[in-house]
Order: sequence, then structure tokens, then C-alpha cells
Amino acid sequence: QLADSLFIINNYARDYFQETLFNSEEGQSVGLSYFEERGFTEETIRKFQLGYCLNTRDTFVHTALAKGYNLEYLQKTGLVTIRNEQPADNYRGRVIFPIHNQSGKILGFGARILGKHDRAPKYINSPENEIYIKSRVLYGTYFARHAIDRQDECLLVEGYTDVVSLHQAGVENVVASSGTSLTQDQLRLIRKYTNNLTILYDGDSAGVKAALRGLDMAVEEGLNVRLVLFPDKEDPDSYVRKIGADAFREFIAENKQDFILFKLHTSLQDAGNDTQKKAQLVNEIAETISKIDKVEDFTKQQDYIRQCSQLLKIDEQGLVQLVNKFIR
Ligand code: UTP
Ligand code: MN
Ligand code: MN
Ligand code: MN
Ligand code: MN
Repeated sequence: QLADSLFIINNYARDYFQETLFNSEEGQSVGLSYFEERGFTEETIRKFQLGYCLNTRDTFVHTALAKGYNLEYLQKTGLVTIRNEQPADNYRGRVIFPIHNQSGKILGFGARILGKHDRAPKYINSPENEIYIKSRVLYGTYFARHAIDRQDECLLVEGYTDVVSLHQAGVENVVASSGTSLTQDQLRLIRKYTNNLTILYDGDSAGVKAALRGLDMAVEEGLNVRLVLFPDKEDPDSYVRKIGADAFREFIAENKQDFILFKLHTSLQDAGNDTQKKAQLVNEIAETISKIDKVEDFTKQQDYIRQCSQLLKIDEQGLVQLVNKFIR
């Protein structure tokens, strides 16, 4: 009952913000030009149902209340807050990215500030409520699920705009973790469609660190994990705009690397001649390899043991024994 009411309100807000974007003066001159500057076409904007919230104190909430929507529920969705004891629009002056569930219903919104964001946060996201549980949602699933299924691969990016831009470039098997680190529930969601996960995180150290954290969990979920590193300061959205759709798809195909081997490479460099660090690294790699399901994927585990022992310059049988220690 409550869930239904929240869905109905989100639905209304989605339509209202879209209407504002396309049919109001401010929506066109501010919101629409922002999207156009980013290179989003009208077709893309309509497909993702992007919108704009007027930069006024409470136009949206007054319209919604006049239509009979309940203030308490409007607050629960995060669309409205109480400011100086009066209801006020939470996303004012921002462009709106509706967040769909797998069947296209609106769970919540991401609202991006225009221009600089020195004082305010870049994105305001819906709070968690009865229908929006962040750890279970990946942005873009609704638009990507058929392509993920068809291509038997899921690309994972950090942000809303990465998903939108890649779709426009013809890369449709893509979802976003929305800046948070991956959860078990999100990985399970991916596994419903494919076993092959390719991580396309931002080319900054935060992006790589976030990606590394997801690895062991993803391996445990039985996923084959690959990684594409972007040049510094680029993310999939900025990079596809820079080099174009065809070159981007080529870049992905050519720069995909196995995640476990990548982790080993970078850790090895990190360890240098430090024998203690290297010993710890051997342990960590053994633990990661041990998480590959031996029964389901025996040869995969064997392959990793062979490649890793070569990279580490250690005896293969020794690594086998170490891996076995981690298997209960
Ligand atoms: P980024 O900072 O990489 O933003 O955060 P972006 O997606 O590239 O957006 P643009 O190109 O600057 O417009 C990645 C994701 O992290 C979440 C959002 O989901 C964002 O898309 N995020 C980031 C927030 O929720 N809040 C923030 O203030 C910043
Ligand atoms: Mn920033
Ligand atoms: Mn980033
Ligand atoms: Mn980014
Ligand atoms: Mn970006």
C-alpha cells in the first residue's frame, strides 16, 4: 500500500520534471541546454526520461499537493523537504535522472547540480525508503537487461551519465553502481543475466580502489571479472565523447584485462623487493583463487594457479597447497 503510493508519486514526479524540461522556458534554456552541451540527443533524453526541476522554492510541491498527493509521502520519496517549517522542493535547479527498477517502475531519482558544485553536493539522491534500497539497485538495469542477456556480458560503470552516454554510443549492456562500492545483492542481480562482468571505473585512484574492493566478492559470486582502465581523469562518458563511439568500443575490446591477474600485477609492483609484502601477497592471491568454485570451474582454478605461480615465480604445487588451505 505504502509502496504503491510511493511508486505513484515517483511516476508523477518523473512526468512533471520531463514536462518541465521540454515545455517550460527555464527547462529549455537551462536544463535542456545543459543536456545538449553534454551531447545527449533528444532521443536519449526521452529514453531515459530525464527531467529538470525549476529553480524555485516550491513550485513542484505546490502542484503536487494541489493534485492531492500526500505531503508525508512526498517527503518519504525525498522529492520534498521541510525548510523553515514549509514544504520545499529538494531538487530545485537540478537535472533529474529517474532510477528505474527491472520492470521500469521509478524507485527514486538522482538530481545533478548544474555547473560548479563547490558548496552543494554534485548529486542529490533519493533517500532509502520502502521501495528504494540502494544496495539492491543498479542504475540502468531496465534499459540494459536484454543487451546483457544477448551479449552475455555486463559492463559496470560508476555514474548515471556513463550509462546514458554509452547507450547513446550503441553500448547498451551497461549498468552503474552509482558511486558506491558493489554489494552482494547487486552482484546477484548481475548474475541473473550473465557470469561475465567487466568493470569500467573512472581513471582515478578512487575508481581503481573501488574496483579492487569488489573483486573477491564478485569471484565468490562465481563471476568472471574483467577490468578496463581509463586514462587519468577520464570516465566512460567523457572518453566516449572524446574519441567517438567506434573507437570507444575498440578501446574496450582491446583493453579488457583479467581482474585477478591485474590485481597480482599491481600488487607485485607495489611489493617490489619486500619479501614480507610478497609473502602476504601470495597468501591473498591464494585466498582469492580458493574462492573460485572448484566443483563448477575446476579448469578455471587450475589456470589461475598456473599463471599466478609463474608471475610470482613460485612453485605451482606450493600454490596449490596454499589454495587448498583456504578451502574449508
Ligand atoms: P562522479 O563524480 O564520477 O560523477 O560520480 P559522474 O557520474 O561522472 O557525473 P558527471 O559526469 O560529473 O555529471 C559517480 C557517481 O557517484 C554518485 C553518482 O551516482 C554519480 O553518477 N555520486 C557522485 C553521488 O551520488 N553524489 C555525488 O555528490 C557524487
Ligand atoms: Mn567534482
Ligand atoms: Mn569519479
Ligand atoms: Mn565519473
Ligand atoms: Mn562524468
